[in-house]
Formats: sequence, C-alpha cells, structure tokens
Amino acid sequence: MVEPIDGGAVAARMPVLARLAREFATDRPLAGRRVAAALNVTPEATALVRVLLAGAAEVLVVSSKPTTFDPAAAEAMGRLGARVLPGPDTAKEVLAFAPDLVVDNGSVAELWAAEPDPPAVVGGTVHSQHALGRVRRAGRLPFPLYTVTESAVKTTVETAHGTGQAALRGLIDAGVQIAGKRVLVVGFGVTGRAVADYLRGCHARVAVAEVAPVPLLQAVHLGFEVVGLTTGLATADVVVTVTDAERVLDLDHLRLLPDGAVLGGIGHAATEIDRAGLAAAADRVDPVPGGRRYRLAGRHLTLLEGAGGNHVFAGINPPELMDLSLALHALCLARLASTGPPPAGLHPVPAEVDARVARTKLAVLGLAGVLP
Ligand SMILES: NC(=O)c1ccc[n+]([C@@H]2O[C@H](COP(=O)([O-])OP(=O)(O)OC[C@H]3O[C@@H](n4cnc5c(N)ncnc54)[C@H](O)[C@@H]3O)[C@@H](O)[C@H]2O)c1
Repeated sequence: MVEPIDGGAVAARMPVLARLAREFATDRPLAGRRVAAALNVTPEATALVRVLLAGAAEVLVVSSKPTTFDPAAAEAMGRLGARVLPGPDTAKEVLAFAPDLVVDNGSVAELWAAEPDPPAVVGGTVHSQHALGRVRRAGRLPFPLYTVTESAVKTTVETAHGTGQAALRGLIDAGVQIAGKRVLVVGFGVTGRAVADYLRGCHARVAVAEVAPVPLLQAVHLGFEVVGLTTGLATADVVVTVTDAERVLDLDHLRLLPDGAVLGGIGHAATEIDRAGLAAAADRVDPVPGGRRYRLAGRHLTLLEGAGGNHVFAGINPPELMDLSLALHALCLARLASTGPPPAGLHPVPAEVDARVARTKLAVLGLAGVLP
C-alpha cells in the first residue's frame, strides 16, 4: 500500500505517476539502488519521489534551486522516506551517497567531471534544456544519461502546453491584457514556440526574433512575423525571452523598448535579461504585481519575476503535464536498473518508454480503446 501525499490532491492530478507507484510497489524495479535526484522540491516532484521509493530505491533529493524549494514538499518527501538536502553546497553528501542512478540538473555531471576518482554511476536522466547545456559543457560524462528534456512526450505535449500555459498565466497574473498587444518572443525553440502559440491563441500580435535559421524558417511557416531583435524591441508592448543564452537583452536593448513595455524571461540562464544592469541604471524602482517597474531614462519598464524573485517569471508546468516527464524519469531509471545500461554519454529516451507513458495517459483518459 502506497500512502497518498498532500491528502491526495497532487496525486489526483498526476494519474500516470499514481499508476506507476502501484506498479513499482509490486515489481520493485529499483530494489537495492541508490537514486540521487536533483529536483525542484515541489509537491509535483514529491509524486516522483514516491514512485522511486515504491520501487524500493534509497533516495537522496538535492534541491535544484532555492527559489523552487518548498519546505512542505521537502517534509513530505522526508515522511515518505527520502533524504532531502536544501543546498546549495551538496557535493560532498552526493559523492558520499555514491548513487547508482541520478536525475541530473547539470550539477551531477559537473561534479562527476570535476572529481578525479568519482564513484561509479549506472546512469540517469536529465530534465531541462538548461541542465542538458550544463551536462554538455561539463565534458567528461562517465555514465549514460537519457535526455528526458528532448523526448517526444516532453517536447510535444508537456512543454508545448504546460509551458505555453505557464507563460500565459504569468502574464495574466501580472495584469497584462493580451489581445491586440504586440508581443515579441525572443528564441523560437521548443519552448519559444509554445509561448508564441499560446499568446497568439489569445489574439496577441506575435513577432519572433531568433538567431538560428531553422527555427526562424519554422516561425515563418507557422505564420509568425519574424523580425530583427532591435526592430522588434522598438515596437513591442510585451517581450518574452525564451533562449538558454546569457545576456540576450542587455541595457542597450532595454533602452529601445517603448514606455510601458512589460518584459520577462522564461529561459533558465540567469542573465538572459540584464536585470542587474537595469536595476543599477534605473532612477526609480517600484514593486508591482508579478515583478518590478523600473524608470529608465524617463520610460517605464515592468520586469516580471517568478515566486521568490526567480528570474523565470512563468511558474512550473501544471501537475497533469509534469506527470508525464516525471513518469519518463521513473521509467528510464527502472530501465537502467533492469537492463544493461547503454554506453556513457547522452541518449534519447527509448521510444518504448515514451510510448508507455503516452499509453498510460491515454488509458487514464479512457482512450486506450482508441488505439489499434
Ligand atoms: N520556465 C519553464 O517552465 C521552462 C520550460 C521549458 C524550458 N525552459 C527554459 O527555456 C529555455 C529554452 O528552452 P528550449 O527547450 O526552448 O530550448 P531550445 O534550445 O529548443 O531553444 C532555444 C532557442 O533560442 C535561440 N536563441 C539562442 N540565443 C538567442 C538569442 N540571443 N536571440 C534569439 N534567439 C536565441 C536558439 O537558437 C534556439 O532556437 C531553456 O533555458 C529552458 O531550460 C523553461
């Protein structure tokens, strides 16, 4: 019997993980395995931890960042039987834990690349595009990682709709009126497209600025206006940055924006928008719903923030959608534990794992019978 968490409220919105918890409790695919998971410590991640523990793993959770550390979720994870480290300096404990399996936010790969003689890891998963960039930059990766962030279910369902909706909600919560507004989306990868789609769906006039030719061509063929960055900024009412790059909008860019413009970042690179430069150059700063309003050379700019001053203004994806990527993590770890791991390096999520998550979700939607 697996105990419900949060009185069952989260589990009720995460039925795929709830099913996996029952299956893992019977099959115990992680028996004898130690899992170190770098996660946003949230009720949603607690649902994943519950599955890993049900699968008989020993679990160490490391907080991905302070702005997504929910003490109630940490307590719930602890009650279930996981050890939770709030961070930020967790390297020693993670190494001493000597995990067999990891859920990496980039920090684990960096740690293993830096250590001369690190403990052996069977393999793991990587969750976000930002984490994947960190893994790639870390260089030496002595174990295999499945790139959950690039899986079909994650990109075409969770990010496409979860992050699209989260961005929309962030803007609406900040009081931004959307229909008819000129919105500039900077970066048209998987997530930028989601944001552009959702804002267009609310009747904004959406333009796209990109540095890479293929996504820019894709934007053209989806009917978006495409513009150079400086041209787009000069007429934008709202700007959303969705790259994974540093200093995409510096102070000179911000000076181009019209009076009253609202801007916010979704990319995980902390300096995607030069917030520190703006704060230093502004002659007045006022808190407003969803962020801060700066007066810069006689113009007013509102810079959106997430909870706790997070530079990512859009909140986390809805539980119904996080259910899918977190299920991919659980199944990839179970696969690593039960079959021979692939060679060290990055690997796409196996197609059958993606398919199993999709089938399970279709089943809970009552649509399994539609499949041949
Ligand atoms: N907040 C959330 O809920 C959330 C959800 C998903 C992704 N993200 C973050 O959003 C970022 C983007 O993720 P993704 O999956 O779309 O990545 P991606 O690699 O698919 O897309 C990023 C795009 O930005 C473009 N780009 C890079 N530098 C640019 C610049 N200076 N100007 C214009 N375009 C530029 C790239 O060419 C690329 O097309 C990552 O940091 C990711 O971690 C956040």
